Amino acid sequence: MAKTRTQFVCQNCGRITAAFVGKCPQCGQFGTMVEQMVATSSGSSGGKSTAPGRYTTAPIKLKDVKHDGLVRKTLTNKEFGRVLGGGIVPGSLVLIGGDPGIGKSTILLQVAVEVANLHGPVLYISGEESTQQLKLRADRLRLSSDELLLLTETSIESMLSHIEDTKPIMVVVDSIQTTHTSGLTSAAGSIGQIRSCASQFQELAKNTGLSIFLVGHVTKEGAIAGPRVLEHIVDTVLYLEGDLYHRYRLMRSVKNRFGATSEVGVFEMSERGMAEVPNPSEVFLAERKVDSPGSCIAVTIEGTRPILVEIQALVSMTPFSNPRRAANGIDYNRLLLLSAVLSRRIALRLHDKDIYCNVIGGLQVNEPAADLAVAVAIASSVRDRPVKAEFCFIGEIGLSGELRAVSQTEARLKEASKLGFKKCVLPSSGYISKKTLKVDLELVQCRSLQKALEVAMLPA
Ligand SMILES: Nc1ncnc2c1ncn2[C@@H]1O[C@H](COP(=O)(O)OP(=O)(O)O)[C@@H](O)[C@H]1O
Ligand SMILES: [Mg+2]
Ligand SMILES: [Zn+2]
Repeated sequence: MAKTRTQFVCQNCGRITAAFVGKCPQCGQFGTMVEQMVATSSGSSGGKSTAPGRYTTAPIKLKDVKHDGLVRKTLTNKEFGRVLGGGIVPGSLVLIGGDPGIGKSTILLQVAVEVANLHGPVLYISGEESTQQLKLRADRLRLSSDELLLLTETSIESMLSHIEDTKPIMVVVDSIQTTHTSGLTSAAGSIGQIRSCASQFQELAKNTGLSIFLVGHVTKEGAIAGPRVLEHIVDTVLYLEGDLYHRYRLMRSVKNRFGATSEVGVFEMSERGMAEVPNPSEVFLAERKVDSPGSCIAVTIEGTRPILVEIQALVSMTPFSNPRRAANGIDYNRLLLLSAVLSRRIALRLHDKDIYCNVIGGLQVNEPAADLAVAVAIASSVRDRPVKAEFCFIGEIGLSGELRAVSQTEARLKEASKLGFKKCVLPSSGYISKKTLKVDLELVQCRSLQKALEVAMLPA
């Protein structure tokens, strides 16, 4: 029988104290400390002695370290492989977060079947759905594999023995919130349980080279299972985002020990599951109505991939003394800043007008390189004059109305040229090598927003 003691764990940040306190000393929240039993002789952190002379590890010279290279298991699902950094890394623990119903189980079932067919046995463990439900989904998506094993289980101890028995090369755990360990008496889904289970999976992945995918539900605050308790335990964190009412889903890597972060995979929710969208720019621009005022094309970068998006602005007279500003797909404060710059530096009359700004396709554009396109779209709507269809825009706008250089300009220009744009307005600073950049695109470099608006034929 394991010896137990109790401790108090903050349900918000995971801070542990020995005695009860009303206010968490770490995050300052009140009433979040919850008493929990801990078995002192089990758990992932216990057991190892740190007394001198009793170490189990040893330092090793860099040149003596042996490895077989990072052999990724490649996938035919290019979009999923892309966010992972090129494929599934053996021994990695990946967390996939997202709102309920966004498609986490769907995409993981697709990937599980693919890995099972290509590389070897996969164990799909669900604590939320029965094996019949999983079978129904697989049938609906027309997926099948002889190497895919299904298991309905919520106890991590049973999961670990099943993994030992079946020896899969990849495991999916849907979800980490329904998984519980008997070492803790607290309910499944509490911070203590989630953290303990995730560390046990991490240990298993590191010791056996098994790739483990955890599904994590996003709580109301927008973080996975209470603020960030899991993000530092796992190797890779992917968020599946998108509007439930739109077809497109974006999978974004916010942390990746084996690849670039903020890499984006684009999927379309269809009857056959999450279908890859290999050419998102084309898709996002497909419904574009050319020659309509207030529409402007921005060349943005998501991770390492350039994506062209249409930015729309609608500026209309307001009957109220407090004009409205609504931002959809761009940061609200960024919109306020840009309208202030337009008012002061371009003398655009905006104080008596509502501004609505929209990024088409449900994409969230967080980088400042889209500033210029937003500003041009607003100016175009105010003047009721369309921006020519052959134009696209790149550039960050400073408070004095100057255009600032952005990163990865060449990749952006190549994509713009590939999509048939003829002119790109961009900042004059920043080095562009004309030699390496073989694009059929006229580069109009401008120092200021004022100049850019003149080029777009929307003079102040
Ligand atoms: N029987 C069905 N027929 C058509 N679409 C379905 C069916 N069941 C689920 N879906 C769609 O699949 C989407 C994703 O579901 P799921 O992968 O279970 O999401 P998650 O695991 O992220 O909660 C749902 O939002 C729904 O639109
Ligand atoms: Mg699910
Ligand atoms: Zn706290």
